[in-house]
Amino acid sequence: MKIKALLGTLVFLSLASSSTAMAVEKGDWIIRFGGTTVSPKGDNSEIVSVDSASSIGINFSYMVTNHLSVEVLAAYPFEHDIRLKGGDKVASTEHLPPTVSAQWHFMPGNAFKPYVGLGINYTTFFSEKTYGALDGTKLSLDDSWGLAGEIGADIMLGETWLLNLSARYIDIDSKAKLDGASLGTVEIDPFVYTVAAGIRF
Ligand code: NI
Repeated sequence: MKIKALLGTLVFLSLASSSTAMAVEKGDWIIRFGGTTVSPKGDNSEIVSVDSASSIGINFSYMVTNHLSVEVLAAYPFEHDIRLKGGDKVASTEHLPPTVSAQWHFMPGNAFKPYVGLGINYTTFFSEKTYGALDGTKLSLDDSWGLAGEIGADIMLGETWLLNLSARYIDIDSKAKLDGASLGTVEIDPFVYTVAAGIRF
């Protein structure tokens, strides 16, 4: 609740102190750095479920016009546990989900700047490990290409610093193999939440 109250206060201060100095315009860069959680959808596949994971996310937006930006999302690798349906951990994997999006900023002149984005995601999986019932077997997860959608807001705290909140949906489907035999497609399709600090320059 403390965080909610703090966020509320920041949004209020930001709205109350709207000024042209807080406007974002063509040619500006915004860099955001913060905590990101990847929360896969509930029913990933017939056989396994993939748990949530958190890591450090960083993203860059370049304002191509006053309203349109191009954003690149990068992150430190996410490590997910993989369980048998409702049961024990049998594997883990790491992944990186770089995403390039076009973003539309509705109110670039305001201190509170909501936006939406649509982009392309490429996810690569690595360091697959197996445990317990799958110990001694080799799990592999294919790379995935898919669409990514997002909504978010930059809340200017001054001319340079900002607070950023965003939620994304990424279509990540991966063909899984165990010792070379197909396990079918794992639909990870996560929601990705970020709370970040940012700078505009
Ligand atoms: Ni999917």
